[in-house]
Amino acid sequence: MRMPLFRGMKRWGVLLSALILSSLLLAACGESSPSVLNTQGPVAAKEAGLFWFILVVATIVFVIVEGILIYSIIRFRERPGMPAPRQVHGNTNLEIIWTIAPSIFLFAVLIGTIYTMFNLSNISGTGRPVTVQVVGHQWWWEFNYQNEGFVTADEMRIPVDTVINVSLQSTNVIHSFWIPQLTGKTDVVPGHNNTKVFKADTIGTYRGLCTEYCGLQHAHMNFFVIVMSQDGYNSWVTAQQQAAAKAPAPTDANAKAGQQLFLGAGGCQGCHGIVGVNLKDYNHLNGGASASLLVGPNLTHFGSRTTIAGGVLTWDPATCQVVTGSDGKPIIQNQQQCGLYQWLHDPQGVKPGNDMKLPSPLTDTQIAQLVAYLESLT
Ligand code: CUA
Repeated sequence: MRMPLFRGMKRWGVLLSALILSSLLLAACGESSPSVLNTQGPVAAKEAGLFWFILVVATIVFVIVEGILIYSIIRFRERPGMPAPRQVHGNTNLEIIWTIAPSIFLFAVLIGTIYTMFNLSNISGTGRPVTVQVVGHQWWWEFNYQNEGFVTADEMRIPVDTVINVSLQSTNVIHSFWIPQLTGKTDVVPGHNNTKVFKADTIGTYRGLCTEYCGLQHAHMNFFVIVMSQDGYNSWVTAQQQAAAKAPAPTDANAKAGQQLFLGAGGCQGCHGIVGVNLKDYNHLNGGASASLLVGPNLTHFGSRTTIAGGVLTWDPATCQVVTGSDGKPIIQNQQQCGLYQWLHDPQGVKPGNDMKLPSPLTDTQIAQLVAYLESLT
């Protein structure tokens, strides 16, 4: 009995809807998502090259296999009054062909992959190479510029056209470090420091993310790589090296009150460090203990960053104006537009499960004072 491939319009309708739906879903991946094919550095470019090579090989295989399949379906289809086909079992020539042909294709993919793997870190740049120790926390990234002697968070600044060496560390669970436009994924494993090398060809800001499930807020473990000119990078380094203590102490009354909160009632210094305030230097507490005991980001130059809480919120002083309220106390003018207000007001609401658990909720006045203080830490 003859069986039509698709019975009636209904099945075609289902097939067509599935195609349209999947295209819509895939289209949602565009826009702000960084693409591994929009490469901005040699490592990502080599990886994208391997992708295209494998895609070409896979396309050739697809076209050959589907071509033979469709030809056979049409050429040898059942026609009215046809006798039963001749029954065959085994064909040595065919079996040899379909064993050798895939081996050749797979061998080509293997050679391409091995060549790319060993060639990946073979890059050179004009500037002096920069080494950064990257530490994965739950759920934010710490960037320790050990040679330069400072630590930052959420934002990794690097000079353009310079070889960047990163050492990947974790003290908690496994994370994975990925900057789609600059370099592929490498696991960040506790007790085993992986390393990787990459370079950026173009000045700009590139999104990085954690790509290994690491707990409740895995999806909110982003960071930004800010690629700067060599001169811009050098002046940023000089500014970061300067401890907050060497900068003028807060003169503004609100900022002064904010510093007192940081050290006292706010409970901030139990998790965060500021050099010259509760840290002796970037790596040591005032008493000499290691600063890595602190679970929160180092805030020494918080005012010079733009990202909060692993990329969940942004920090922009223009949206966080501190004004005097009707009761004569300081207050943030547009609380809902100020990312830092939202964070200090309800960190567990913004990012449930994170380590920032306030001993007691901060009042709007206290938040305004802390914002004024953090803003002064440029
Ligand atoms: Cu860290 Cu996922």
